[in-house]
Amino acid sequence: METATLTSSFIGTSNRGFALYAQDEVRRLIPGTKCTELSDQEVFLMQCPISREEVIARFGAEEPIFVRHLHPVDATTELNRQESDLHRLAALVSREWSFRTGERLAIQVRKQDRLELPYSPAQVREALTDKLEQLFQIEPVPREAERIVSVYVTADTAYVGLSAPSDNLSDWAGGAVRFQREEDQISRAKFKLLEAEQEFGLDLAAFSNGLDIGAAPGGWTSLLLERGLRVTAIDPGDMHPSLVKHPKLTIYRRNARDVQFPPQSFDLLVCDMSWSPLQMAKLLIPLLDALRTGGTAIVTLKLMHGKPFQTVKDTSRTLAPYLELVRAKQLFHNRDEVTLFLIKR
Ligand SMILES: C[S@@+](CC[C@H](N)C(=O)[O-])C[C@H]1O[C@@H](n2cnc3c(N)ncnc32)[C@H](O)[C@@H]1O
Repeated sequence: METATLTSSFIGTSNRGFALYAQDEVRRLIPGTKCTELSDQEVFLMQCPISREEVIARFGAEEPIFVRHLHPVDATTELNRQESDLHRLAALVSREWSFRTGERLAIQVRKQDRLELPYSPAQVREALTDKLEQLFQIEPVPREAERIVSVYVTADTAYVGLSAPSDNLSDWAGGAVRFQREEDQISRAKFKLLEAEQEFGLDLAAFSNGLDIGAAPGGWTSLLLERGLRVTAIDPGDMHPSLVKHPKLTIYRRNARDVQFPPQSFDLLVCDMSWSPLQMAKLLIPLLDALRTGGTAIVTLKLMHGKPFQTVKDTSRTLAPYLELVRAKQLFHNRDEVTLFLIKR
C-alpha cells in the first residue's frame, strides 16, 4: 500500500545576521528540515518533512527565539524579471484561492535584498490587490487582516502563500514591526519596550509601580509614564530634561549596585543596561526582592560571544531561583540582543 508523505515549505525570517540560529531552531523543532538561504543571513526557505498544519502547530507550541516570521509556500512561479511577472503573479493568486466578498485581506510582498527588478514590491501588491478586488471584492487592509497573502520574490522565483495572521508568528510583513517615530521621542530604545508589550501580550497600563534599571536617557521610562505608572529610574547617566520634573518619576542618578528598595515595592521591573549578561544578572539579583511576587520583569540580554542559546540558558538559570522565564525573543528592534519576559517567583 502506498503511503502519502506530507511535506511543506515555508519562508522563514530572522533579524539580519541571525538566520543560522533561526535555522538551528527550525531543525530542532522539525528534524530533517532543509534550509536554503535566500537573503543575506535573514531570509531562508524551509523544506519540512511534515505537513503545513503540523509545522504551524509546532511553532505555536514552542515559540522560537530567533525565527521572527514565517509564511507557508503554497505555490511558486517562475519569474522573468519583466513587467509580465505582475500579471503572472496576479493570475496565480486568483487561480489558487477564492476569497469571500468583503474579506479583510493583507497582501505582503517582499523581495530579496539588493535584487534589481523593473517593478517594486509595492507594484506587485497593487497588481494583486486590483485583481482580487475586481474578482472577489476583497477589502485590502495593511493589518488586522483575516488572512494574509505573502509573496517573496527572488531573481527567478516567487514564493506565494495564504495563511491566517496567527500562523505567521507576526502579522507584520517579514515580522518587521514598524512604530511611528514621535517628534519628541527620547530614544529609539522606546521601540523595544513597545514591541515587547505587543509581542508578550502585556498591558503596561495594568501595572502601577515600575522600576527602570539602566534608564537613561529615558525612552522606556517615558513609555511607562505614558501608560500611567509611577516610575523609579536608576542610571548614573542623565535622564532627558523633558522627564526630570515629571510628578510620577523618581530618579536615582546612581549605579544600580548602590541602591536598595523595600521588599515588594514594584509590580514591574524593566532593565535595559546593555551589559554582559553575567554582570547584569549579578547586579539585578539583589534588587529582585523589591519586585512583588508574581510581578513582571522585562530584561534585554546582550549577546556577547556568538553562543546565544547558551547565553539565554545560562542567564535564565542564574535568575531561576528568583524569576521564572516565560519567553525569550529576539525582537525586531533588538540588535545584538534578545528580550526576556520573566515572572517573579
Ligand atoms: C541602552 S541604555 C538604556 C536606554 C533606555 N532603556 C532608554 O529607553 O532610553 C543603557 C543604560 O544603562 C546604564 N547603565 C549601565 N550600567 C549601569 C549600572 N550599573 N547601573 C545603572 N545604570 C547602568 C547606562 O548608563 C545607559 O544609560
